[in-house]
Amino acid sequence: MDIGAQYGPLRTEIDEAIAHVLDTGRFILGPEVAALESEVSDRMGGRPCVGVANGTDALVIALNALDIGPGDEVITTPYTFFATAEAIARLGATPVFCDIREDDFCLDPAAIDARITPRTKAILPVHIFGHPADMDAICEVARAHDLPVIEDSAQAFGATITGREIGTFGDMATVSFFPTKNLPGIGDGGMVICRDEELADRVRRLRFHGSRDKVTFTEVGYNSRLDELQAAVIRIFARHLDRWNDGRRAAADAYREAGLGDLMDLPAERDGCHHIYHLYMARHADREAIRSALAAESIASAVYYGIPMHLQPVFAHLGYRAGDMPVAEACAESALALPMHPHLTRQDVERVVEAVSRIPAGTAS
Ligand SMILES: Cc1ncc(COP(=O)(O)O)c(C=O)c1O
Repeated sequence: MDIGAQYGPLRTEIDEAIAHVLDTGRFILGPEVAALESEVSDRMGGRPCVGVANGTDALVIALNALDIGPGDEVITTPYTFFATAEAIARLGATPVFCDIREDDFCLDPAAIDARITPRTKAILPVHIFGHPADMDAICEVARAHDLPVIEDSAQAFGATITGREIGTFGDMATVSFFPTKNLPGIGDGGMVICRDEELADRVRRLRFHGSRDKVTFTEVGYNSRLDELQAAVIRIFARHLDRWNDGRRAAADAYREAGLGDLMDLPAERDGCHHIYHLYMARHADREAIRSALAAESIASAVYYGIPMHLQPVFAHLGYRAGDMPVAEACAESALALPMHPHLTRQDVERVVEAVSRIPAGTAS
């Protein structure tokens, strides 16, 4: 990341927005949150949007609003940040893992059917690393079994499928404004995008202790509200999101043009998909050799989801074994996040590719 390049030019605007919130004295669920909800809703085809405290709460509340709880199963990907599976388990439901596709790292629609049981209550795909999951195919399976779909869009704000925003395909979608996300805040924040006003009303109630009016409490909810300072700053960043995503896409093009594809397996972009490269994950059989070559040039890289969810100790009681999700396991062992942010220059990219090309001769690709 390059925080300075991203936020520096907006510093005055950000300072003014923060000062304005301080002047109003409204800090939680005020006009800035309402304006952000309305602006995101405009982008999401008019779907009602509800700000919450973070992307993990967004998942928990979305699942709760669909009445998912103990005894229920939710089909999801093992190749994601822990929060996706955690949210399911937090409600007492069981995450049922289903393997991914190698090219886009997302839930494989063809593998879902075999995982559906009478207990299945929802399908939860993740638009991982900024690439849209195959929503047409996933929604088709969901429709055939009359199951709701929740899109975990934490990593993919602005990604589209044939021009349609991700977050508008399922019954619900969740967003994270964590500071490293494509659309960041300057702290924690999240949002739930809802199919209709009825679900949005339930989400609004759940984020405020299960009450609509702060007097009558109709169910046990959460204290999970988005604050005004975050909303004010996220609104500014939202105006630059498409330009930033274009910068990330240009960096991905630059990696390709600089010949990285001769050295590593590059992330794919499926037909019709608009990838926004939240992370740039390239694969190599000897990932450690690549990491060392980059570290030797003081270039940062990172492993994400090195242990897929089905093999995490906390889910040992579910009985999965190594080999159960071969594609996710292969990706977990070989994928590496290379430098990626909206302001990455062609020279930065060429430096990375040059460093990668210095891995010892004979290293398996
Ligand atoms: C795929 C995914 N889902 C959910 C979350 C949770 O978001 P948050 O950190 O805002 O709780 C994250 C981010 O950390 C994420 O990457």
